[in-house]
Amino acid sequence: MAVLAAIFVTAAGDALGAGAGSEATNASPIYGVTIPDGYRGWKLVAPALEADPLNELRAVVGNSVAIEAYRAGTLPFPDGTVLVKLAWKRVQSPEFEPASVPGAATTVQVMVKDSKKYAATGGWGFGRFVDGKPVDEAQHQTCFACHEARVRGHDHVFTRYAP
Ligand code: HEC
Repeated sequence: MAVLAAIFVTAAGDALGAGAGSEATNASPIYGVTIPDGYRGWKLVAPALEADPLNELRAVVGNSVAIEAYRAGTLPFPDGTVLVKLAWKRVQSPEFEPASVPGAATTVQVMVKDSKKYAATGGWGFGRFVDGKPVDEAQHQTCFACHEARVRGHDHVFTRYAP
């Protein structure tokens, strides 16, 4: 009886483990950040243009906590702030030569503020996604280093609110 009970416990443990694992496949390595629901309808913080070789158009959007903080000039950003950067290949408009328009979507990048959970990385958790799937751990090791080196004085956030 004791043996059977032990087997049952092990099987249940495995089943739980598998469940947690399949959820985790949509979460970024290191940080466990996922693509937030409804981000495509969030308010615009600012657009950006990345030169060659990437040659991309970008748009940074924020949830209501983020937008509120930008408008009030609150730094550091409060817990619950979420920023999402959308990116597309820059292509020439087929209808009007001087205009650039979004081509194929390339990456979706996410920063989530949780000062306790992400205390080791300035309070920010990072996620980079291609076709809805997180990229590998090596890429996620680069996020904080660049944001820390360049914009530590702006709570690790590059993008300013565009007027
Ligand atoms: C080499 C520097 C560099 C690295 C590495 C980097 N970023 Fe950024 N990130 C930027 C710059 C510059 C911007 C400003 C917007 C732009 O130019 O696209 C930015 C903007 C962002 C934004 C919008 C908020 C903000 O800070 O403006 C998010 C979200 C973001 N990055 C996530 C990530 C994630 C996730 C990773 C790692 C997978 C990462 N970044 C790695 C340079 C970097």
